[in-house]
Amino acid sequence: MQKRELIFDGNEKQVFATDDPHKVIFRYKDVTLAFDSIKRAVLRGKGTLDNKISAILLGYLNREGIHTHFVELFSEREQICRKIEIIPLEVVVRNRVAGSMSRNLGIPEGTFLRNVVYELKYNNDALGDPLINEHHAVALGLATYDELRRMLDVARRANDLLKPLFERLDIDLVDFKIEFGRASDNGDIIISDEISPDTSRLWDRRTKEPLDKDRFRMDLGNVVAGYEEVYKRLLTLND
Ligand code: TMP
Ligand code: ASP
Repeated sequence: MQKRELIFDGNEKQVFATDDPHKVIFRYKDVTLAFDSIKRAVLRGKGTLDNKISAILLGYLNREGIHTHFVELFSEREQICRKIEIIPLEVVVRNRVAGSMSRNLGIPEGTFLRNVVYELKYNNDALGDPLINEHHAVALGLATYDELRRMLDVARRANDLLKPLFERLDIDLVDFKIEFGRASDNGDIIISDEISPDTSRLWDRRTKEPLDKDRFRMDLGNVVAGYEEVYKRLLTLND
């Protein structure tokens, strides 16, 4: 696989073309953002950890029959992915209350939910990624009802696999966000962005402390150490 020109220069990652028209290379930066990019820092080593953690999680989902864009690692900081047409939606899966759900509904963080909550957000930075429902998504031409049904089914199946996987590592998967795209080769709806401590809440089950980006959002310090702990525990799955 040959890396070609830069086709997208995002805040936290870059996408490069390759010699295969249906494959791209994702490169993870150490830049870290929060609160719609208002808060920014460069955290040494964060990009490589996101790359490697996401590779493990997406690789696992692929093997379990959930289609994702991940193909294989290309380097410490890069991975080969299937090329997609972006669907500008985010699906948030919540097993426990935290973050915006806690703030918006006035429920304490950590509260257990009677059922898994699935949220749809319109991925639009200028609007602050507003919460929408499936009818808004169809009305805005972002996806069809059938695609939304498939996305929510994938979100449910991914949670059913990832929650017990993290439990084995003594980590609570409190919530996570996934994005989807249409694969350029066959139009399949596939998970098309990372799953990592950047896009999830991972709480140590013993100490209750976050091992994820909330360390950065809330100025708790040792951000990269949290990501490293997640990576270290994921590696024990192969033991
Ligand atoms: P929230 O509670 O802030 O809505 O976040 C829910 C989950 O989504 C949490 O695991 C963090 C993740 N997330 C992102 O990946 N990107 C974002 O821009 C936001 C706001 C949240
Ligand atoms: N996704 C990041 C966050 O969770 C970055 C951002 O909002 O700009 O807070």
